[in-house]
Amino acid sequence: MTKTPDSVVRSYLDQHQAAFLADLADWLRIPSVSADPDRAQDVRRSAEWLAAKLRETGFPVAEVWETDGLPAVFAEWPSGEPGAPTVLVYGHHDVQPAAKEDGWDTEPFEPVTVGDRLYARGAADDKGQVFFHTLGLRAHLAATGRTAPAVNLKLLVEGEEESGSPNFGALLRREADRLAADAVFVSDTGMWNETTPTVCTGMRGITDCQVDLYGPDSDIHSGSFGGAVPNPATVAAELAAALHDAERRVDIPGFYDDVIELTERERELFARLPFDEEQWLRVAKSHGTQGEAGYSTLERIWARPTAEVNGVWGGYTGPGRKTIVPAEAHLKLSFRLVAGQRVEKIQQLVREWIEARIPAGVRSEIVFKGASRPCLTPLDHPALQSTVRAMGRAFGQEILFTREGGSGPAADLAEVLGAPVLFLGISVPSDGWHSINEKVEIGLLRKGVEASAYLWGDLAEHFRPAAADAN
Ligand code: BES
Ligand code: MN
Ligand code: MN
Repeated sequence: MTKTPDSVVRSYLDQHQAAFLADLADWLRIPSVSADPDRAQDVRRSAEWLAAKLRETGFPVAEVWETDGLPAVFAEWPSGEPGAPTVLVYGHHDVQPAAKEDGWDTEPFEPVTVGDRLYARGAADDKGQVFFHTLGLRAHLAATGRTAPAVNLKLLVEGEEESGSPNFGALLRREADRLAADAVFVSDTGMWNETTPTVCTGMRGITDCQVDLYGPDSDIHSGSFGGAVPNPATVAAELAAALHDAERRVDIPGFYDDVIELTERERELFARLPFDEEQWLRVAKSHGTQGEAGYSTLERIWARPTAEVNGVWGGYTGPGRKTIVPAEAHLKLSFRLVAGQRVEKIQQLVREWIEARIPAGVRSEIVFKGASRPCLTPLDHPALQSTVRAMGRAFGQEILFTREGGSGPAADLAEVLGAPVLFLGISVPSDGWHSINEKVEIGLLRKGVEASAYLWGDLAEHFRPAAADAN
């Protein structure tokens, strides 16, 4: 029987799957929590582990890149073919915090396989999705008989994504020459669900702030003074309550001014997805939908900007009673942004809106923490067609399109490198990103390996950036 390249890829996967999963489990055992300063050494160990594994995979260059924060990993494997496109794969090796006490069934940093699922913090977000490229690349070489990839392949895996990528922009500018690429592939998003393979075509941006409100110099008696001085906890509640109008639109003047509205084609593509509200609510662990009037649930999370109260606290919350006007209260607010909106402008609008609502006698401090800008894949880009074909071969199904409500630094990559952003991911909403019992579906991980194995050859054939530049 003559073998098609796809069956060569699949039998290569069969042979190497066990070792691949064992390696991934080793990486998942490293608790690379970027938010926890006590884990900085673990984030470093994770970077070094990955760089070593990439060298073992065959990358002639695999380096740990220092930043002013936690280290990233860069790897590069030139194709050797004149005119081959250069592709940069982006992911992150840091993870969200996790502890068994949060309600996990197993230890988050002790990977466990149950049936076709691998459970561990980072299994889906994002170590599993970075790691599928290693086996994918080797399968690409095995199936094509090549000794180097069909494209010039670069990998950039940062260590601070879950902390808002505070040093990523500076790293990109510092290393712009070595990072130069014709297209960026982000492997940090997911698909519609287990049975509906999709390609993501955009992510929202985010900017978030803490608002500190100070009233009296200390907690004071609410009988002697309350009702005659402003209460910062009341101000916090007023701010939280005023964020949305009755239609659940964000009630900050100018907030929607630059929003790029969905096109009819995009609304149609969203509507083709098999959306089941009850099932969606189960995954959302929520008990009802709510959002901006005039938009579907998918439009609300993928293509509309939002304001969210992440936390609000202040005053007495202990047992019994303490009748006071509290000295201070606080809010953490985040704003998801969509294409067209600019981070700096939104921050300014939010700041002005808050300051105008602070009564005399209360002092406010507003500190913006971080930001990621929104990004969109151009729907007619040839590299998107290659991605869809590669996913189609892996899944043997039609590939539909989604976007993501979440955020990442992809737009910074696009801007600094002057390259379009595409997404290749196989995670599904039930994977539990940032939640308890995070897992990855091993069957889908395998599809990710396969799609990665097909993508580079397809791009080399159909995406000729030099020719594209010429017209
Ligand atoms: N991989 C996620 C982004 C994501 C979320 C993709 C949901 C697909 C579905 C990324 O690691 C993430 O969590 N981003 C944060 C950014 C924040 C920490 C600045 C987010 O979206 O909250
Ligand atoms: Mn991620
Ligand atoms: Mn994440």
